[in-house]
Amino acid sequence: MVANMNVGIIGCGNIAPRYVQGCNQWDALNVVACADINSKAAAALANNTGINALSIPELLADFDIGLVINLTIPAAHAEVSKVILLAGKHVYSEKPLAITREDGAEILALAEASGLRVGSAPDTFLGGGLQTCRKLIDEGAIGEPVAATAFMMSSGPESWHPNPPFFYQVGAGPLFDMGPYYLTTLIHLLGPIRRLTSSARISFTERVAGHESIRGQRIPVYTPTHVSGSLEFQSGPIATMVMSFDVQQHTLPRIEIYGSEGTLIVPDPNTFKGPVRLWRLDNPQWVDVSLSHSDTVLRGIGVADMVHAIATGRDHRANGRLAFHVLDNMLAMLEAAETGRHVTLTSTCDQPLPLPVDLPERMMD
Ligand SMILES: NC(=O)c1ccc[n+]([C@@H]2O[C@H](COP(=O)([O-])OP(=O)(O)OC[C@H]3O[C@@H](n4cnc5c(N)ncnc54)[C@H](O)[C@@H]3O)[C@@H](O)[C@H]2O)c1
Repeated sequence: MVANMNVGIIGCGNIAPRYVQGCNQWDALNVVACADINSKAAAALANNTGINALSIPELLADFDIGLVINLTIPAAHAEVSKVILLAGKHVYSEKPLAITREDGAEILALAEASGLRVGSAPDTFLGGGLQTCRKLIDEGAIGEPVAATAFMMSSGPESWHPNPPFFYQVGAGPLFDMGPYYLTTLIHLLGPIRRLTSSARISFTERVAGHESIRGQRIPVYTPTHVSGSLEFQSGPIATMVMSFDVQQHTLPRIEIYGSEGTLIVPDPNTFKGPVRLWRLDNPQWVDVSLSHSDTVLRGIGVADMVHAIATGRDHRANGRLAFHVLDNMLAMLEAAETGRHVTLTSTCDQPLPLPVDLPERMMD
């Protein structure tokens, strides 16, 4: 069966043009239309990319569209994904899948009941950098993984984003905004998480926008902006994870994995690229490892994998169960901080299958 699907987009903001460009890399994906509650945003995306601007009901009623990418703001993800599924279309959502477990579970149940698929960002773990790391770990290059660190610390996105208030609403903050890249990468490399604990704070109750269109606008903060956790994986390793919008500068790595025989420096999980660096007991120096997989892909590879998976009947990698486990972990980190206890996760997921090394260009199988 040929993998090919007409795709629509709901949510035509900052990230949408990059999705159109990324999806256009794949023969399997034809991005044909877009819609937004703000019709001017849809018209602008359509103008810049050559796709059709429709109203949301028109897009959902279009029988030729089989899958819709949900690029709305986090607080709207669940509502929009449910409407897409109810219209009989597969959905691929930007992260997070939802901002409550109830909504996340409802999305998965709705899809299951209708024989539809749920996919979710991030899909960066399908890029050459993170696939190379997975291959190295699976081949035993660092021996048995025992621990990991994951640090995303910045001074926040309000300095550059044209619409930053949503980053400081419940369901966003550094944990929900950037945590999915770090958690998905750790789960891709080490498998699902068993239990965790954390501390969290709102360091500043207001932020100040820096983008020229809204410079000086004050943004109230409704969610923790510094979250520091300790996570135990089902397979044994313990990760230290800090997600922060409250740090001006630092020198810590993004992600490192420590094993019985060596250490792996993992590239930025918000990219599809390297570098990948390895230190081993039997060759005790830092070595730059050549990537085993292509690093020229862009956002949209997760959607392409989903459409190929639908055609062959296999599981897709950036799937709803993985995204739900990530959501469960993020909520558990906030709950652990509030209650001062460990939280044992009730969700789990499969470690996504690695990509084969010898895939032809633009193919996922
Ligand atoms: N901007 C980035 O660099 C970036 C990177 C990766 C992921 N993301 C994720 O992509 C998503 C969108 O981010 P963005 O930066 O493009 O935001 P944005 O605010 O620029 O755009 C969001 C768009 O969604 C529309 N929208 C909001 N609620 C809607 C609803 N109920 N129905 C239809 N349309 C609705 C808005 O009108 C707006 O045009 C977020 O989940 C974000 O976390 C953004």
